[in-house]
Amino acid sequence: MRCKPNSAFSGSIAAIAAAARFIPSGVTSAARMAAKPTPLVIERAEGAHVFDIDGNKYIDFVMGFGPLLLGHTPPAVTKAVQRQLQKGFLYGSAHSNEAVLARRLIDILPCAEKVIFSNTGSEAVHIAIRLARAFTKRRIVVKFEGQYHGWFDPVCYGTPGQVPLVAAAESPRVHMQATAGIPPANTDMIILPWNNSAAIDALFENHGGEIAAVIMEGIPQAGAIAPNSDYIMHMREVTRTHGALMIMDEVITGFRMGLGGIHGALGVKPDLCVLGKALGAGFAISAVAGRDEVLSLTGRKTMPHMGTFNGHALHVSAALAALACYSEPDFYPHLYSRSERFARQLQGIVDEAGLTLKVSQTGALISILGLPADSPLTNYTDLHASNPATVADFAEALIRHGVNIQARGTLMPASVHDDAVLDESLTRIRQACASLTT
Ligand SMILES: Cc1ncc(COP(=O)(O)O)c(C=O)c1O
Repeated sequence: MRCKPNSAFSGSIAAIAAAARFIPSGVTSAARMAAKPTPLVIERAEGAHVFDIDGNKYIDFVMGFGPLLLGHTPPAVTKAVQRQLQKGFLYGSAHSNEAVLARRLIDILPCAEKVIFSNTGSEAVHIAIRLARAFTKRRIVVKFEGQYHGWFDPVCYGTPGQVPLVAAAESPRVHMQATAGIPPANTDMIILPWNNSAAIDALFENHGGEIAAVIMEGIPQAGAIAPNSDYIMHMREVTRTHGALMIMDEVITGFRMGLGGIHGALGVKPDLCVLGKALGAGFAISAVAGRDEVLSLTGRKTMPHMGTFNGHALHVSAALAALACYSEPDFYPHLYSRSERFARQLQGIVDEAGLTLKVSQTGALISILGLPADSPLTNYTDLHASNPATVADFAEALIRHGVNIQARGTLMPASVHDDAVLDESLTRIRQACASLTT
């Protein structure tokens, strides 16, 4: 099959330029700025596809940057939200579905004894960190280089794209600036290399009594880097021994790596886990789940948890409908086998084209890196060797051939990427590769 390349982007270019008169850069999240040839201006979306204002149709692997594990406009979620819409959507009071959703999460997440709701992943991470500090009465939080936990202080340091911080293990208090020219609001943050048990041991030996929590993605989205065997368990042991909390930030991995979260898949019980994105299948709901004695600090007002939109009735109804879909027996076997097959064939295509690209896949998370296919990938230093320009050029070629991926090479497979959609994607990707090499 020969696919017609998308060639016209003038509508998106003009619309972004016009929007930039009112919105800095014309986009409302920095992550959307990187897309080439232009941030797309989308007119509508359905299933596996998005349609831009130039009339181009794309097979979409951005999937809203992760929430759309069921694709665009999934009928079950749409119907549930429409039903709720008739009954009102923001009560400023409790409503029955909040407890139904909390109970469902407690049933499926191994670490969950209690649950609280908020709106975005960044907010929920913020709550989890405050809870850990309130519970332990300590201030220091440990994170890992190259891992992203939202854009709030103090976690917005050592994120993907920043220089590696391998010196962190020896000189752990890192003063990096997320806002140029302004010192970070809170420097009680230590950044360690990923997949390095010795660094954890050394840090806890010297600072164990000061550490409130260790927060991690479990499988870092940048590079989809799986943890070494025993690494997560080792961290569980060390944190427990020293009275620090283990926080699993599952905003990306939650429901993308299994119904029981990434912690269920890895067989570990963190003290807290943070959920967002796929929980609402496109509606803004996040949650912190975990130990009763930690979460109950909110109830006792030691740590006030507030928010006008917490437990928004539309978003809760979307989450309940989404969880019902994720609970179908075939949901994960299909999602994983297709993601694995797609990533393998994608690697074959780029290899055949002679492009220096490595395709890394774990569960329903695929990361394309500007590295030779056989490069090791265990930590952020390995990842940082990736050539971002190669990946961005590849992403642009795909967009020009009707396959929408993030400029940094992340793909978010969803249940709507069935075999036919994936086959068409591979055909288009083959043509995109040819356009890069001829
Ligand atoms: C692992 C992780 N944590 C937290 C966040 C922040 O979530 P939000 O963008 O909903 O604030 C993200 C967003 O990409 C994320 O990937």
